[in-house]
Amino acid sequence: NKRINTAAIREKKAKGEVITMLTAYDAAFARLLDEAGVDMLLVGDSLGNTMLGYDSTLPVTMEDMLHHTRAVCRGASHSLVVADMPFMSYQVSIEEALRNAGRFLKETGAQAVKLEGGKEVAPAVKAMTAAGIPVVGHLGLTPQSVHQLGGFKVQGKDVAAAQRLMDDARSLEEAGAFAVVLECVPAPLATKVSQTLAIPTIGIGAGNGCDGQVLVIHDVLGLLPGFKPKFVKAYRTLHTEVSAAVREYIDEVKTRQFPGPEHSFALADEVLEKLY
Ligand code: KIV
Ligand code: NA
Repeated sequence: NKRINTAAIREKKAKGEVITMLTAYDAAFARLLDEAGVDMLLVGDSLGNTMLGYDSTLPVTMEDMLHHTRAVCRGASHSLVVADMPFMSYQVSIEEALRNAGRFLKETGAQAVKLEGGKEVAPAVKAMTAAGIPVVGHLGLTPQSVHQLGGFKVQGKDVAAAQRLMDDARSLEEAGAFAVVLECVPAPLATKVSQTLAIPTIGIGAGNGCDGQVLVIHDVLGLLPGFKPKFVKAYRTLHTEVSAAVREYIDEVKTRQFPGPEHSFALADEVLEKLY
């Protein structure tokens, strides 16, 4: 069960094999998804929302990302692990970006990093790839820029915005990125970008013409009740299962149905008899 590498990911596009990616934030889930056969695990900064209780990805720190990436790497043996670079860990200077990207490979066992943005981050991407750090780009709806974008909405809808996205994708490829995530992009535009680039595109809310797909594992499993974006498919509704299980547990503890004899440890009668 050999580890998938970045060359194998690029090769999949050449062979027309669809690439699968899911987020993971801890060792337990990483092991489950890895054993199920997913190609890439993304330690997304979406962990701000899914795991840490923030309402955006902006507060997530390098230390948060390193901590969760280490856990994911302990659970994954086959899938390629990609770590998201958090907000403001790569924007200040190329030097700081390079140093932070390097920490993921040095200190966690991740095989690659991901960062958001196009042309403006191309020099940082170039420095990272020159240093031997594989990079995944991220275009379209980039949640770290939510305040700049003015909310979570589909990107690249008019000619100027569509052309900008195409140019950004080209500049990431030229800078050495080995894949690009396209988030919330009209399907025909994402298809066109996928046909234009040699490196694979990984879509989320970007239609079926991308070279691969990624979703947040909490969305796939229906772990969180509430709002579900149009592009999400919840393959299960586990939050109802979790609630039902916990309610049953509370009820059985209160009514002394749990623990039963089968969950308890016995003691020889004479031990009890000699106790005073
Ligand atoms: O943080 C994340 O989960 C992501 C994916 C949605 C691509 O960046
Ligand atoms: Na992210």
